[in-house]
Amino acid sequence: MSAPHSPLDVDRVRKDFPILERRLAGDHPLVYLDSANTSQKPTAVLDALAEHYTQHNANVARAVHQLGEESTAAYEGARDKIAALIKAPSRDEIIFTKNASEALNLVAHTLASGLAEDPRYRLGPGDEIVVTEMEHHSNIVPWQLAAQRTGAAFRWFGLTDEGRLDLSTIGELINERTKIVSLVHQSNSLGTVNDVATVVARAREVGALVLLDGSQSVPHQPIDVTELGVDLLAFTGHKMVGPTGIGVLWGRRDVLDALPPFLGGGEMIETVAMTGSTFAPIPHKFEAGTPPIAQAIGLGAAVDYLTGVGLDRIHEHEQALTAYALDQLNAVDGVRIIGPNSMESRGGTVSFVVDGVHPHDVGQLLDEQGVAVRVGHHCARPVCVRYGIPATTRASFYLYTTFDEIDAMAAGLQQVKRFFG
Ligand code: ALA
Repeated sequence: MSAPHSPLDVDRVRKDFPILERRLAGDHPLVYLDSANTSQKPTAVLDALAEHYTQHNANVARAVHQLGEESTAAYEGARDKIAALIKAPSRDEIIFTKNASEALNLVAHTLASGLAEDPRYRLGPGDEIVVTEMEHHSNIVPWQLAAQRTGAAFRWFGLTDEGRLDLSTIGELINERTKIVSLVHQSNSLGTVNDVATVVARAREVGALVLLDGSQSVPHQPIDVTELGVDLLAFTGHKMVGPTGIGVLWGRRDVLDALPPFLGGGEMIETVAMTGSTFAPIPHKFEAGTPPIAQAIGLGAAVDYLTGVGLDRIHEHEQALTAYALDQLNAVDGVRIIGPNSMESRGGTVSFVVDGVHPHDVGQLLDEQGVAVRVGHHCARPVCVRYGIPATTRASFYLYTTFDEIDAMAAGLQQVKRFFG
């Protein structure tokens, strides 16, 4: 099968990622198909981190000296870049966290704290929290804890056999008791891209908040938070060619203003007295202590890099890769796709099982051929339970992935099949 057209000059893109030159044991070239787990980093991001530490390192917002000003300008500049990336109405609506999990926990924890003045932002008995069966654990466990703490009910959308949300129950599931619906935009395990508009429309009818986990969508397609219509969006830096240790929570200003603080500490206050404290306006209300300064600056460089390449072109490239991968995988006898087996509303993450072979064996044999995939439940165990499987093998693509690498995976799977007879 000949490789389809891509709008990207992938050979050129790959030169920006030094790690892709690696050769692995047995002198196999690295075939990195695990970008949904973490993406590789371009030189521009590595240089931004080194430059910060070698030229500008100082704490932010609390030093009057020149380095402090430079560091603060770069940190706040990163906030501007991220606001522009997701078309946030205001830069103040961008909260830096350490990862997407912390961003999701921030929302769950503050709603459960009971400290908000406005009762719409306080969970309690009789309220309902709605998630989906395809969530990452970080969008399940914080809500289960919130339900335990507050007496709110924890409910979820089930999945169809094809790996999509079963929206047939939406009218009952999202109801007048629903305080928040928290769902993933693109599933990290199935690749499904969810119908956010339908969920938002129903949530609006009953006055529920909508929190979107964009960890697997923001890196891969243009995002406009106003168009999405959600109230809050969480995502992480390391899956979008940025460093680890940095995540983002975007929220509508009125929602963030209404939520109480999450962590207490320096820089999140207006004034502190032994009798009580008042808090800084957003975003600083949610950024206690010394923030991940270099990581935010690195993420800013990542945003520059991705927008330089073009998120629309990255998306188009990944769509072509995914269509090609589905064809290649479906051509291997005994391989079954777990999740949408067509290009309708899906992204570049493909999970599959190989009949009669445990995914860990598949992963190990592919690794011996230089092909790095993820095996397991991908921190979304309820998905595996739903489909009655212990685990999947998952291949995930990004702007530097080539069609040849997908061929290498398919050839590796033929080896797996030969090995297991
Ligand atoms: N790192 C997790 C994954 O691989 C979220 O999908």
